[in-house]
Amino acid sequence: MYSLDHFDLGTPASDTAESVTIEIDGASVTVPAGTSIMRAAASVGNQIPKLCATDNLRAFGSCRLCLVEIDGRRGYPASCTTQVAEGMKIRTQSDKLSQLRRGVMELYVSDHPQDLISDQAPLRTEIKDMAQRLGVTETRYGWDGARHSGLAKDESNPYFTFDPNACIVCSRCVRACDEVQGTLALTIEGRGFDSRVAASQAESFVDSECVSCGACVEACPTTALQEKSLIASPLPDRTVTTTCAYCGVGCSFKAEVKNDAVVRMVPSREGHANEGHACVKGRFAYGYVTHSDRMLRPMIRQKISDPWREVSWDEAIEYAAREFKRIQAQYGRDSVGGITSSRCTNEEAYLVQKLVRAAFGNNNVDTCARVCHSPTGYGLKHTLGESAGTQAFTSVMQADVIVMVGANPTEGHPVFASQLKRRLRQGAKLIVVDPRVIALVRTPHIEADYHLQLRPGTNVALMNALAHVVVTEGLAQDDYVADRCEADSYRKWKDFVAHPDRSPEATASITGVAAELVRGAARLYAKAHNGAIYYGLGVTEHSQGTTTVMCIANLAMATGNLGREGVGVNPLRGQNNVQGSCDMGSFPHELSGYRHISDTATRALFESAWGVHLEAEPGLRIPNMFEAALDGSFKGMYIQGEDMAQSDPNTQHVTAAFSAMECVVVQDLFLNETAKYAHVFLPGSSFLEKDGTFTNAERRISRVRKVMPPRAGLADWEVTVRLANALGYPMQYRHPSDIMDEIAALTPTFTGVSYAKLDQLGSIQWPCNAAAPEGTLTMHIDHFVRGKGKFFVTQYVPTSERSTSRFPLLLTTGRVLSQYNVGAQTRRTQNVVWHDEDRLEIHPHDAETRGISDRDWVGVASRAGETVLRADVTDRVQPGVVYTTFHFPESGANVVTTENSDWATNCPEYKVTAVQVIKVSQPSEWQRRHRELTQRQRQVVRAGSVTHT
Ligand code: SF4
Ligand code: SF4
Ligand code: FES
Repeated sequence: MYSLDHFDLGTPASDTAESVTIEIDGASVTVPAGTSIMRAAASVGNQIPKLCATDNLRAFGSCRLCLVEIDGRRGYPASCTTQVAEGMKIRTQSDKLSQLRRGVMELYVSDHPQDLISDQAPLRTEIKDMAQRLGVTETRYGWDGARHSGLAKDESNPYFTFDPNACIVCSRCVRACDEVQGTLALTIEGRGFDSRVAASQAESFVDSECVSCGACVEACPTTALQEKSLIASPLPDRTVTTTCAYCGVGCSFKAEVKNDAVVRMVPSREGHANEGHACVKGRFAYGYVTHSDRMLRPMIRQKISDPWREVSWDEAIEYAAREFKRIQAQYGRDSVGGITSSRCTNEEAYLVQKLVRAAFGNNNVDTCARVCHSPTGYGLKHTLGESAGTQAFTSVMQADVIVMVGANPTEGHPVFASQLKRRLRQGAKLIVVDPRVIALVRTPHIEADYHLQLRPGTNVALMNALAHVVVTEGLAQDDYVADRCEADSYRKWKDFVAHPDRSPEATASITGVAAELVRGAARLYAKAHNGAIYYGLGVTEHSQGTTTVMCIANLAMATGNLGREGVGVNPLRGQNNVQGSCDMGSFPHELSGYRHISDTATRALFESAWGVHLEAEPGLRIPNMFEAALDGSFKGMYIQGEDMAQSDPNTQHVTAAFSAMECVVVQDLFLNETAKYAHVFLPGSSFLEKDGTFTNAERRISRVRKVMPPRAGLADWEVTVRLANALGYPMQYRHPSDIMDEIAALTPTFTGVSYAKLDQLGSIQWPCNAAAPEGTLTMHIDHFVRGKGKFFVTQYVPTSERSTSRFPLLLTTGRVLSQYNVGAQTRRTQNVVWHDEDRLEIHPHDAETRGISDRDWVGVASRAGETVLRADVTDRVQPGVVYTTFHFPESGANVVTTENSDWATNCPEYKVTAVQVIKVSQPSEWQRRHRELTQRQRQVVRAGSVTHT
């Protein structure tokens, strides 16, 4: 339904360079060839009446409201389906046209619930506006004829309703599902008067293939498809443009607001990352912001067994500062540290790392990217020279062959997946490298050309085999490499991958992938005009995560697939601001802009700006902090927006480390798992409650704008400022824009970034500086950032985590569309309708040999721990492999994962854990203890009369 401030141009833009001049109602108009008459007229402010057309869908020409007259042409062509031609003279207004349009409109009105068309109808819809504009409030056909009425309304979807009585079968919803979302869940069933919209095989929306993206709801010109929030709330009266706080796509939204409450989130058509599309999380799952579990008062306690005591902000911050100072005095300067959040803004991450370096006086700062994309930072920095993806999302529309390695974008990055599927429907080829049959392998109108279903943990062997084919079959772009890469490193790499041990035939027994599939896939990618690689945590979360990132960069350089549109190396980032938190200097060895802390000139710059001495030695990484806590030398942690007790591997190790600390400060929206071990709780603010910026997977910096005041009184950045001041290090910022100005002054890749420029351009992809004042769409165009690209020899070293007779299966993990990471937000929305527990996927063969049936409770045991989940018997996984998601704390997925980690970055090896699975009838020991602890946590909250919302 209508967005409050979108001026609809009727049909999509034409992308031809040639232009055509026509005359519309006597005025001369010049537009690109291929533009519809409707869009040409709208481009000069003349909106021709319409119902079935809208500017993000191909014209359909069914409603016949948009008729026009064209000199020299008989009849009244539809302006949405008729393209302009040089010299055309068009009339959009005449008595005859009015008469024809009114006649059509009367027919629609006669078959529409009268109360939805009348002046008193509460909602503004296109059909109502159009009827009023054409002066049709009554109908000659009366209200008593044959009409659609009394049909059952489908209210099954938690976020929107479908009322077939109000449907005019304009097919906008069907086209939105096909063209924008790419799910093809809707059809028109029946013919003529009996035709109607149906979800899948005439199922309810919630049971159908619908993924609840809302594109059809937005496209509907009536109230047939309608957001429930619009029915339940007063109508919005203002919009605020902001950025989604879920995944790394970073969709732009117009929040429609009334009385400081969000009534509806409408994806922004001007959003460069999403171009008007969204997924179920960003569009609908914002209810957690006002959930009754929100903690709105600061709290403290001396021991974690004590009840929480609500205190003022001042008292909580003074207490935390006093404790940190006491610990440092007692155990030394390095006994405390901090964690920045990839869910908070750039400005907030920057302040937390500044607090650690300037107020704590050490470099013990790390971020949750440690456990996801730290190998990306390391691998791309060393090969190409910059720790970030090379392309914009739109680049995929120029790709001819797309390689998807260890990423599942229809679940994890859904809006990018829709764009990718559009490109695949246009004919691009797809290679999927994944141990699991992800949806992209086979989905409506799409089938991967190759699915290399490798064994978990063998990425490097497989990537080397692909490279072997490229090099030994003469498919490398030697001229490109000679021009742009280090010759010596290339020679060494070539010799290495050309060795027969790296051939697809020699490695098939390691990877489990047939040699001819590897050869075919390698040829397809290497011969592509534009070959693009996208990858995710299936690459990074391994003991050889960094090596695989280097393999990918090597392959792209060797085939000349870097430095232009349609190609590139593209890490799909998990969280909304994981790129940003890394950019801001959240790692213990780097200041903002990925400059090493040991670099004297860089340190001097910050020392002068911050007025402190900075340590030249990198600080502790997250796993080192836990080790040091267990050794008794690390005693205090400030954690902003991160639930480490749930998200980090080997839960029991993590919680033992927290239990050994004396001051854990948790700043979060909810009393999360980590808060069970906290001594100070500082209420967090959601993305709707603050100003700032997020940086998405394309390096795109976008504004986050305050929609409502912080519910607990302070935004997260204000809390860090107060804590720094209480620690004795003065911080003074009036607004997050001041923080961005400081970041820009100290970070070469951000020099040209300011809130004013963000307001002007909408968003900016860094680097943004004198050389690129409006940002950088594609990286490494003429040369690599490091100068010459560097190849690395990528020896395959099998993980020590391998299947044995005791633990014969390999567990790998992933996520689902409706939930987000540890689930703290999405579990507190109606998204639980689709996923209310984590399940263990197990192949029918493995299930049968263990006597396991679908939905049975199964124990999953590794050398780290044991948990119990319900089984999902499916051939999405191969024999020998099991899979689960990790969105619910009680599932204990990370009780099972081990502390094995990447050689370069310590990124945990979440994707490979050797396990045994057996049928059980009761929860694991850990789950029983977890339940008790959760119960106790509730009791201490109650005992301390802690208020929630
Ligand atoms: S909500 Fe999205 S997936 Fe579902 S029917 Fe509508 S367009 Fe299709
Ligand atoms: S979760 Fe990701 S894809 Fe979905 S709306 Fe948010 S940014 Fe877009
Ligand atoms: S808008 Fe052109 S036929 Fe419907």
